[in-house]
Amino acid sequence: MSETFFVTTALPYANGPFHIGHIMEYIQADIWVRFERMQGRRVHFVGADDAHGAPIMLKAEAEHVSPEALVARIAAGRGRYLEGFHIGFDHWHSTHSSENTALSQDIYRRLKAAGLIHCKPIEQFFDPVKGMFLADRYIKGECPKCHARDQYGDACEVCGSVYAPTELIEPYSALTGAKPVLKTSEHFFFRLSDPRCVEFLQEWLAVAGHVQPQVANKAREWLSGKGEQALGDWDISRDAPYFGIPIPDAPGKFFYVWLDAPIGYLAALKSYFDSGKARANGETRSFEAFLGAPDMRQVHFIGKDIIYFHTLFWPAMLHFAGAPYRAPDNVHVHGFITVSGEKMSKSRGTGISPLRYLELGMNPEWLRYYIAAKLNATVEDLDFNPADFIARINSDLIGKYVNIASRAASFITRHFDGMLEYPCGTEELTQRARELLEQVRSSYAAREFGRAMREIMAFADRLNQEFDARQPWVLAKDPARREALQDSCARALYGFKTLTCLLAPVLPAVAERVARELFGLDRALTFADALVPPRRINPYQHLMTRVDPKLLDALLDPQEKTVSDTGSPAAPKPPAATVAAIDAPATISIDQFKQIDLRVARIAAAEQVAGADKLLRLTLDLGSETRTVFAGIKSAYDPATLVGRLTVMVANLAPRKMKFGVSEGMVLAASGPEGGPFLLTPDAGAAPGMRIS
Ligand code: MSP
Ligand code: ZN
Repeated sequence: MSETFFVTTALPYANGPFHIGHIMEYIQADIWVRFERMQGRRVHFVGADDAHGAPIMLKAEAEHVSPEALVARIAAGRGRYLEGFHIGFDHWHSTHSSENTALSQDIYRRLKAAGLIHCKPIEQFFDPVKGMFLADRYIKGECPKCHARDQYGDACEVCGSVYAPTELIEPYSALTGAKPVLKTSEHFFFRLSDPRCVEFLQEWLAVAGHVQPQVANKAREWLSGKGEQALGDWDISRDAPYFGIPIPDAPGKFFYVWLDAPIGYLAALKSYFDSGKARANGETRSFEAFLGAPDMRQVHFIGKDIIYFHTLFWPAMLHFAGAPYRAPDNVHVHGFITVSGEKMSKSRGTGISPLRYLELGMNPEWLRYYIAAKLNATVEDLDFNPADFIARINSDLIGKYVNIASRAASFITRHFDGMLEYPCGTEELTQRARELLEQVRSSYAAREFGRAMREIMAFADRLNQEFDARQPWVLAKDPARREALQDSCARALYGFKTLTCLLAPVLPAVAERVARELFGLDRALTFADALVPPRRINPYQHLMTRVDPKLLDALLDPQEKTVSDTGSPAAPKPPAATVAAIDAPATISIDQFKQIDLRVARIAAAEQVAGADKLLRLTLDLGSETRTVFAGIKSAYDPATLVGRLTVMVANLAPRKMKFGVSEGMVLAASGPEGGPFLLTPDAGAAPGMRIS
């Protein structure tokens, strides 16, 4: 029975636009999908946004929009990238969907019935200001080992030690600065440590082809961990407020985002079936029938940072949920893309913006080819190096591949009216094309794309050498050697057709044009075409330009930002009436503004002031010193809720002697006819003493 593939890439978080790492993953998967289709396989290739979780909820809150609106805005931006880089998902969906809710709840109920879910109370930090439990990354404090300040709740970035958030000295909430309190709550756990799970996973990992050997080793290390490294059960619930899927029969409890995210693969597939697109793609079975069908092959392309979820939880969840669910047939892991040897970092401005690449008019197939040329089947990282990029594209694609057609075609058009003849027959040519096809096909199948590109380019070299050796430009001058001229050009163009078929998974747009414009075909090329000698051609039309190094300078220039690539809406202009209504002071220069020393401050203490009806006495921690400030915020704040939170102060205001003592600065708060005062709070990540500018 022929296999039918269900292929996915990891579902990107819906809190920002695609970066080059996403695009690299999609290009890898897309090349493989096109390769399988070219050899006649049916493939259903789907993706979706990973919409749930605390970061998205908090980002939406900070932007004063609903999480649904945030996710919808991000989703609306996806198409430009996917079309731009010729990434042919058959369908794109979201984990925040009715399909995903139904599937997640169904899988959960089945796991529960199988005895693999249990409940237990856990004690966790809770932010009393925000009214929510805090994940480790939202708790900061002093490292218990090296005493570095402002370290995250799970590990110290200074000394590298790993600890529980409860071990931090003077912990505070990174969201509000408040002192977190310990609170108990019931959590749901998936029994990953159950001997049934461990045994199943050992077996699943042992099957060749399920995962790469390196990946199986890593997963086995986790499975057989002892002592502190022992495999734990998996906490799959989160308490409200949470943007996620409700757990059945458990009010106020939601699935942890990583439970419903991979189920989103199935949700996307279901939505694809329900939309009728699967049928249009030749699939006559129902979603359920397809899912459980013996010919179905479930393949996931993912990056190396999410191996744990995809090789332990995900196969176990599917397997123990039972038919029609089934553990994946293949989880394929790739390394990370670096840029000039550096990890991507949005804050340092490194990395490549895929949208900027497109906006500069750079050819998407250059990037597809470059990535293909550098990919192998291991989990190794892959570097984008600008000089190497220019050299490879110009030498391989232009100098070797395109060159063959542009040179050979012009003789055929000029001297033979487009007709190709093979006076020495085509057998030997077809034989070597067949050998190449087999080689390249097995390289693609093994996901050794770099090897495939090397094999293809070696053949292109050979064609160019043979062509040059016959000196067609000399033959063209001698009417007696017409046949030799036609023969050398026909051989080169047959080779070019073979190469085009083999490159089609990587260069789909070029292949489509070559098929239509040069060879006059009204359908897409398949691998079978690689072995069919062309009989006539149309005049050659320019296929691809060389890379201009200036484009790479522009692409990598950190000053040049693509405005439309920020994932945030353009700041709406306030209506003129509002501006006029605010009695704004005269403009000041930037230098005047710089005279104000604004700092992040942590409220270390807040007390009532005897005899004052408006003021609270605040002790502000500026990192290296503390200040006492009397603030007129008593009407709006209970002092107890202020302790620990971060705010903004004017640190160079002349001290002012007041009735109750000296005030050494001022905290900033907003107020208006609608109410106030509202204390300002910096975003997560700010630390006491930081300058505000
Ligand atoms: N939402 C999760 C995945 C859920 S899958 C059920 C997630 N999202 S992500 O947006 O952070 O990452 C999506 C994919 O991009 C992952 O496969 C990740 O490994 C990949 N990459 C992120 N940075 C990358 C590079 N620098 N290079 C290559 N791939 C990278 O994780
Ligand atoms: Zn430390």
